[in-house]
Amino acid sequence: MITPPGLAPGCPPWYARPGARAWTCAPAPVARVRAFHAGLPGYAPTPLVEVPAVAAELGVGRVFVKDESARLGLPAFKVLGASWAVHQLLSRRPADGELTLVTATDGNHGRAVARMARLFGQRAHVFVPGGVHPAAVAAIAAEGAQVTQITGNYDDAVEAAVKAASGPEAELVQDAGWPGYEQVPGWIVEGYSTLFAEVDAQLAEAGAAGQTLVVMPAGVGSLAQAAVIHYRSRRDRGVTALMTAEPGTAACVLASLVRGEFGTISTGETIMAGLNTGTPSLLAWPYLRDGLDAAVAVADADAATAARDLAGSGIPAGPCGGASLAGARAALTGEGAEERRAALGVGPGTTVLLLSTEGSAANPVRTS
Ligand SMILES: Cc1ncc(COP(=O)(O)O)c(C=O)c1O
Repeated sequence: MITPPGLAPGCPPWYARPGARAWTCAPAPVARVRAFHAGLPGYAPTPLVEVPAVAAELGVGRVFVKDESARLGLPAFKVLGASWAVHQLLSRRPADGELTLVTATDGNHGRAVARMARLFGQRAHVFVPGGVHPAAVAAIAAEGAQVTQITGNYDDAVEAAVKAASGPEAELVQDAGWPGYEQVPGWIVEGYSTLFAEVDAQLAEAGAAGQTLVVMPAGVGSLAQAAVIHYRSRRDRGVTALMTAEPGTAACVLASLVRGEFGTISTGETIMAGLNTGTPSLLAWPYLRDGLDAAVAVADADAATAARDLAGSGIPAGPCGGASLAGARAALTGEGAEERRAALGVGPGTTVLLLSTEGSAANPVRTS
């Protein structure tokens, strides 16, 4: 396996945890979350697209891509979490009085919070770190949010958002948890359960059953936490292996897994803007540590190639969406693939599910 540029010194590009598939945890309140999402304007399940050419390339039975390029009117899956969390927050407050929803973002989450603030008649204040595409910043402002661009990285933006949310008429809506801040990110993770519930129904309809590998991009790891909760809370879905893909320059989940200890890494630049985070969510960490089968780091160039390949199959993936295919290619092909495939339990009959978490409209594919 080729080591992508930017990996923390001493961190290998691949991690596997035998035994993750036997780990179990409690389920999410899927039915309530789905009913809420179904009542939102414009809700429809996003497409699950089969890509036989990629299955042949990866040497597996079938490959499906969950295409999140158009989710509730936005070009990424993040609104599933933001909408449920904002709904939960507002339902616990007195009806009168306008609230400012505050968040830090590298693009998609902030736009989703801003959209939900508008939908529910509230204000939004969004903090954006350096390096986020100007089009993504403009899209957040176009939702009617106040946008503050800071010099510094994602963790610095979170710090600024925490400060701004300390007043009485403000609430932090952050998609990562830390000690004392667990309820809102917990709701955000619950919100993501709708995506996996849709996938279950769509795979069943497609007649796909049995051994599955799910590959998803990770930033702070909240989406991966939702995947672990979904697949490790029930035993009636066949055997599922779960793998994250991260940029080499921001592989914070991989680094913590390799060390066996939660921690922060310094980050560089990446075209996978939504994944440019140096610290996993502490709320997600126990789930990632115990329930993830594998983590892999990928290079920007490979994510860009993967996004273009998906576009060629009619799936308009942005770079974070491409990360899943780039991660699957890194793990399942090339030197040492036999060992990695064995660790994931992948064989010629396996179904691979790739989460393409954003469309190219969320984050145009750039090569550098
Ligand atoms: C498009 C996209 N994919 C994946 C992720 C990763 O999600 P998480 O930070 O929960 O790991 C993000 C996060 O913002 C994102 O915007």
